Amino acid sequence: MADPDWWRQAVVYEIYVRSFADSNADGVGDINGITSRISYLASLGIDAVWLSPFYPSALADGGYDVDDYRNVDPKLGTLADFDVLIAALHAVNIKLVVDIVPNHSSNRHRWFLEALTSPKGSPARDRYIFREGAGEEGSRPPTDWESLFSGGPSWTRVPDGQWYLHLFAPEQPDLNWNSREVRDDFLKTLRFWSDRGVDGFRVDVAHCLAKDLTEPLLNKAELPDSDARDGSHPLWDRDEVHEIYAEWRKVLNEYHPPRTAVAEAVVHSSRRARYASPDGLGQVFNFDLLNADFDAVQFKDTIIANLAEAKAAGASLTWVLSSHDSIRHATRYGMPDDRSVKNMGGRPLGAGMTPRPDVERGVRRARAATLLMLALPGSAYLYQGEELGLHQVADIPDEARQDPIFFRTAGAEKGRDGCRVPIPWTADGLSFGFGNNGAHLPQPAWFTAYSVQTEENELTSTLHLYRRALDLRHRLQAGEDLEWVASDVQRLLHFVRPNGWQSVTNFGSELVTLPDGAVVITSSPLIDGKLPPDSTAWIT
Ligand code: BGC
Repeated sequence: MADPDWWRQAVVYEIYVRSFADSNADGVGDINGITSRISYLASLGIDAVWLSPFYPSALADGGYDVDDYRNVDPKLGTLADFDVLIAALHAVNIKLVVDIVPNHSSNRHRWFLEALTSPKGSPARDRYIFREGAGEEGSRPPTDWESLFSGGPSWTRVPDGQWYLHLFAPEQPDLNWNSREVRDDFLKTLRFWSDRGVDGFRVDVAHCLAKDLTEPLLNKAELPDSDARDGSHPLWDRDEVHEIYAEWRKVLNEYHPPRTAVAEAVVHSSRRARYASPDGLGQVFNFDLLNADFDAVQFKDTIIANLAEAKAAGASLTWVLSSHDSIRHATRYGMPDDRSVKNMGGRPLGAGMTPRPDVERGVRRARAATLLMLALPGSAYLYQGEELGLHQVADIPDEARQDPIFFRTAGAEKGRDGCRVPIPWTADGLSFGFGNNGAHLPQPAWFTAYSVQTEENELTSTLHLYRRALDLRHRLQAGEDLEWVASDVQRLLHFVRPNGWQSVTNFGSELVTLPDGAVVITSSPLIDGKLPPDSTAWIT
C-alpha cells in the first residue's frame, strides 16, 4: 500500500496547464500536452505534479474562475484525457494534486446564472452573497470594500438592483459557505476527483470561505485591522473556516492512502498551523522564503520561525520560491539590492521591473537558494520553468496581457503574465516547441538559451543541477529537523541534517572554505576548492 506520509517531504512541481505544452496547435497548453511530456517530468525526479485549474472557464483569471468543478475545459481536453494523464503519471510514480477553488465560482457557473434569473431572497441567490446597496435607491455598493485584485469595488450590481460580493474580479462571485448545498457540492467534487485517482488538492484562497456578513456590514474604517490575529475579521481567517475543512478531512480520509490537501492561506504566521492540522487540510503554504530577499539573516530567521511553528503543530513544512502568482526568483534576485522586487501578497509590482535585472547574478542566486531550499526538511513546491533558471518575461505588449490585475489597475501593475509565458522546450522553432502553433503569451528571443533542448546539452545547466539535486535529496532526505553550524564567516548559512547531510550557502562576497567531507553538489563551480559568493554546496 502507498505510503500515507508521502507528502511530508515531497517535491511538488506546479504545472500552469495553459503554458506547459500544447498538443493540438491552438496556442494553449492542454492535458494531452502534459501527457506527452511524462518522460521529462519523470526525468526531473519530482514526487508530485500540481495542476493549476483546468476546469471549464472563460479565463477571466487564468482558470481561477471555474464554470464547472467536475469537468475539463474542452479547450484543454476531456475527462478521458485526464484519466490517461493520471494513469501515465502514476505509472512513473508521480502523484497528482489538483487545484480546487472554493471561495468563488465563475459568473458562468450554472448556479450563478440561476441566481441572476431568480428573485431576490431566493434559494438560488443564497448560494452567493447578494445584498441591497447603500444610499438612495441602493445605488452605492453595500460597503466600500475593495477587491483583492488591486482595488476597485468588491461588489457588482445586477439588473434588479441587488449587489453581489466578489473579493476578486467581478467574474468571480464569492460563494456563500453558510449554504449546506454549497458545502455538500464541494464534498461531491472532492470525491469526484479522488475517485478518479487524484492524490491531493491545493486549496485556493483557503482562508476566505467563512465570512461573517451579519447586518449591518462594516465599512473599511470600521473593520478590524486586516492583520488581526484573533479571527475577528469578517472576511478572512475566521475560526469557523476550520469546521469546513474538518468535513473535508473526513472525506479525504475515506481514501487509501488518505488524499492530501495544502491550503493557500495568506494569514499571520501564528494562525497558519490550524490550516495544517491533521483534522484539517494537513498542510499549508508558507510564502516567507518567496518574500525574503537573498539575504542570510532573512533566510535564517524564516527557516527558524517556520521550523518552530511546524514542530509545535506537528505539521510538515512547505517551501516555495516561485509560483504562478509571483516574479520568478531568478529575476527577483537579479534586481539591484536597493530595489529588490517585493511580492505584495504574492503579487508582483509592475513598477518593479525597472531597472532591468542582472540576469546572471539572478540565476546564480536562484540556483543557490534552490539548493538551500531543497536541503530543508519538509516539502518543496517548484514552479514550471524554474528548473531552467527561467526569468520573468518583462516585455509583454499591453495588448497581449491577460491578467485581471493589469486591467483592474489600468496597467499600473503589470500583473502575473510574465511568469506564465509558455515554457521553451526547443532552442528555436515555432513557439520554442511549446506546440505546433503560436503561444498564447509572446515568448522572447532569449528563451533559446533557457530551453530544455539547450540545457539538456550543457552539463552545467540549471536543468541538470535540479535533476542531480532532486536525485541526491531523495537519497539523503531523512528526519524533519536540522541543526545550525556556527561560523565566523559573515553571511554564511550552514546547517546539518541528523544524518550528517550539510548545506552551506555563501550569501557574502568572499570565497569561503568548506567544511571537511565529500562535496556532492554545488550551485556554481568551486574556485580553488572554495565556495564562491551567491553559491550553495552540499556536503556529506
Ligand atoms: C491564486 C491566484 C488567483 C486567486 C483568485 C490565488 O490564490 O493562486 O492565481 O488569481 O487565488 O482565485
